[in-house]
Amino acid sequence: PRYWFVIPAAGIGARMGAGKPKQYLMLGDKTILEHTLLRILALPGLAGIVVPLSSEDSYWTSLTILQHPLVHTIHGGTTRADSVLSGLDYLADKSHALDWVLVHDAARPCVTVENIQTLCNELSDSDIGGILAVPVSDTLKQVVNKKEIQTTVDRSALWQAQTPQMFRYKLLRDCLTQTIANNETITDESSAIELCGYKPLVVEGRADNIKITRPDDLLLAEFILQQQQK
Ligand code: C5P
Repeated sequence: PRYWFVIPAAGIGARMGAGKPKQYLMLGDKTILEHTLLRILALPGLAGIVVPLSSEDSYWTSLTILQHPLVHTIHGGTTRADSVLSGLDYLADKSHALDWVLVHDAARPCVTVENIQTLCNELSDSDIGGILAVPVSDTLKQVVNKKEIQTTVDRSALWQAQTPQMFRYKLLRDCLTQTIANNETITDESSAIELCGYKPLVVEGRADNIKITRPDDLLLAEFILQQQQK
């Protein structure tokens, strides 16, 4: 099958405190968003990438990769879920036969083609879909009153969600629509599927598929990209 991606990049990156949205920060000689798009564009059999962007800024206007024939830019929404749903709506107007859709964070530039292929292969028989994730390795504490440890959380069943997250197109569109209508706050697409009562799968990914969130993550991502190119 040929796969469509939605890469929401309409966020303002408030946690980074860098003055510009994190997807436009430099990682070596390119922005984070360019690195991420290059990784996805290297996927054999890619159908295309929809990139919701913010109309509030113009950082993206100078990125020539957004003119790549497989890249389709659209206006994002006020939340990540809105931006992803805009991407799915955009795909509905296409005549392409749509089955699966993959959603990937603009801020995960270290994802590997091999990992994406594993995700696609492992989920091919699923009626729902699933996500890349890694088992939690740290000991987890539940903290109250900002600094008091209340308990240690059993980590044996806990996984850290990553992206890509891959779902049957119509199912994801319906579940996101319902989640937004119910005013539920979600931080990934799988949450929308779960809230609608479905059970997506985890596929073990790589620990180096990090999401750039804080300034320290930039150096780490640069190092990971260098190591992967060896
Ligand atoms: O803030 P966080 O790291 O969870 O954002 C995840 C992704 O969602 C980012 O790539 C961001 O650009 C995107 N986003 C979006 N539209 C929004 C808010 C966030 O596309 N309104």
